[in-house]
Amino acid sequence: MLRTAVLAASSDHRVRRFVSTSPVTHGVVNRFVAGEDVSAGVGVAGRLCEAGLRVSLDVLGEDAIDRQRAYESAVTYRDLLRALADAGLTPATEVSLKLSSFGQAFDAPLARELAFGVCQAARDAGTCVTVDMEDHTTTDAILTTVAELRREFDETGSVVQAYLRRTEADCHDLAVAGGRVRLCKGAYAEPSSVAFTRQTEVAASYARCLAILMAGRGYPMVATHDPALVELAGRLAGAVAGGTADLVQPDPGGPRPRSFEYQMLFGVRPGEQRRLAGAGEVVRVYVPCGREWYSYLMRRLAERPANLLFFLRALRSSR
Ligand code: FDA
Repeated sequence: MLRTAVLAASSDHRVRRFVSTSPVTHGVVNRFVAGEDVSAGVGVAGRLCEAGLRVSLDVLGEDAIDRQRAYESAVTYRDLLRALADAGLTPATEVSLKLSSFGQAFDAPLARELAFGVCQAARDAGTCVTVDMEDHTTTDAILTTVAELRREFDETGSVVQAYLRRTEADCHDLAVAGGRVRLCKGAYAEPSSVAFTRQTEVAASYARCLAILMAGRGYPMVATHDPALVELAGRLAGAVAGGTADLVQPDPGGPRPRSFEYQMLFGVRPGEQRRLAGAGEVVRVYVPCGREWYSYLMRRLAERPANLLFFLRALRSSR
């Protein structure tokens, strides 16, 4: 409920102006966002890679409002990819993008064309793209575009959200050879007609989807900080490798043992990220950068009452 309330309030322009201009906000932003320009993102990616982690860099800027902004987003991604290659940070660093930042909402062909250009730039830089998932009204359009991108750039990753009732079926479709699929819980305020709303239901759906992806022929990207689900992924991977446990029925042409990665957000459970990497697991950190951090920050605050409390306390003590 708190989550829905925070996400609903975040679209109010007065809340937006207040949060965006309050000096206190910047301390909180710094925890979750690498910096306001792309070079800050490259710097953080370098440090994480040195520490044995992998990275997915996201240039913040969802919901481009006109063609000009959409083109600018695509240019920023191409510049970023060149900078990553020049810094020797590919393939350990890939990029994540939102089709809404390329104008999907008002010109879908343009968004597709720009995404193709960024996928080509990623391939030239020796890395690849994962296309983030947004609210449920865009799920079909995003999955269709990713399928089109994969025809030419089969390394392109897709994202599914366990809170959507449709996602188990999507996992069956996406668990194909070579398919890189990120499974997350989902971060938007969705109605119960399309989404599970209780946390226990979302976690149970995540576990079912994870079992499908782990038993499939693709490459699961396990995006969660939830300790029980992190542990489950390790057990499922072991079950696929051993072919013994009753947790999954491994596909005979399925993935190599432990062929998956964990993914977590920059600033969330960094100790766990390092612990898993130290234990030999592949761990990728999702690192956002850019000036348009407002919506991203609000989703992070909404996810965890403690984050919101921290923010509100900081606001009160700044008065
Ligand atoms: P849950 O929210 O239950 O958290 C489990 C535990 O993790 C908490 O108890 C806490 O310890 C810690 N934690 C989680 N969130 C925290 C936070 N914000 N601050 C501090 N601690 C926190 N969503 C989406 O809709 N589309 C997308 O494309 C993506 N992409 C994406 C990529 C990656 C790499 C990750 C990790 C996540 C996403 N998400 C996303 C966000 C995702 O849907 C979800 O909202 C968050 O990951 C939180 O869900 P958890 O699975 O971590 O569980």
